Amino acid sequence: MSPVRILGTGSSAPEKVLSNFDLEKIVDTSDEWIRTRTGIVERRIANPNIATSDMAYEASLRAIESASIDPADIDGIILGTVTPDYFFPSTACLLQSRLGARNAFGFDLSAGCSGFVYGLQVGKGMIESGDARIILVVGAETMTRIMDFKDRATCVLFGDGAGAAIISKSESPGILSLHLGANGDDWELLHMPAGGSRIPPSEESVRNRLHYIKMKGNDIFKEAVKAMESAAIEAIRKANITPDEIDLFIPHQANLRIMEAVRRRLDIPPEKVFVNVDKYGNTSSASVPIALDEAVRSGKIQKGNLVLFSVFGAGFTWASGVVRW
Ligand code: ACO
Repeated sequence: MSPVRILGTGSSAPEKVLSNFDLEKIVDTSDEWIRTRTGIVERRIANPNIATSDMAYEASLRAIESASIDPADIDGIILGTVTPDYFFPSTACLLQSRLGARNAFGFDLSAGCSGFVYGLQVGKGMIESGDARIILVVGAETMTRIMDFKDRATCVLFGDGAGAAIISKSESPGILSLHLGANGDDWELLHMPAGGSRIPPSEESVRNRLHYIKMKGNDIFKEAVKAMESAAIEAIRKANITPDEIDLFIPHQANLRIMEAVRRRLDIPPEKVFVNVDKYGNTSSASVPIALDEAVRSGKIQKGNLVLFSVFGAGFTWASGVVRW
């Protein structure tokens, strides 16, 4: 089996900022409530002409540039999203065309917020088996398109953006471990009821606002803390390291209180935790790769560092990994 490493990262978010104060004018909420309950100060919102593949394209270009490769070198594109441009074709295929990655296969992967890390696992396996050498893994979302701006319990939480990583065969190990999990028992706690084969689009489904996220935040909170902690412990164990060796912990950027609870349980000092939820809100599958890219570009991740990430999302799904940079 060949070792697999992350060769380069990239990210992109729409320029338009939607602040907590902007939301105060739309729903019955307050900057104070949002900040204290979630840590979010603002998030990005895509203009109507921007869709998921547009942000995925920008993020991928940056990842390709930082990896110093050519789009034609890419053997496959795996794109995690719950907000694809279309049901079909896949957003990965749209991206493949736009990048001119003519030698790449491509498909979308649905694992909620865990989509990017699930994609890393699939890509890593293909490289290890020798079926691919270089894979582009993307997490990209236009969450504001499926947010109900009449529902204050959800519309304050999410934002738009994309993150990408180029992974490749390497001489020395980079991705030391990945651990994935799922439990579909409680799928109803976080879902979008209509638009699929269960409840196809109709006048009634639109009237009943069924094309938006429905979420029981309180129940998810507890599940997220437990699953992100246990996934991280498993990834640390598989990587054969100890938690005190971790240089940077990148938790899923959903809620500062969730991150803080997981950090405490893992006994990682606060200065080793990367946080940008204040700027972007929860960007679902884009959360981990945007944070990873920002951490690399800001110098918070240096060569040789050990990076831990852990994520939880709709499904439920969870995923964690340890990477030697
Ligand atoms: N502004 C003001 N008040 C609000 C708002 C708002 N935006 N939203 C809810 N409230 C009110 C509720 O109506 C409730 O009022 P009540 O007591 O009069 O009924 C009160 O605030 C408390 O509501 P809770 O839901 O109990 O608040 P909680 O402290 O649990 O925080 C939150 C809610 C922020 C959603 C939290 O539960 C959370 O972050 N959960 C995780 C959800 C999540 O991140 N999901 C995304 C996918 S999974 C993942 O990414 C981890």
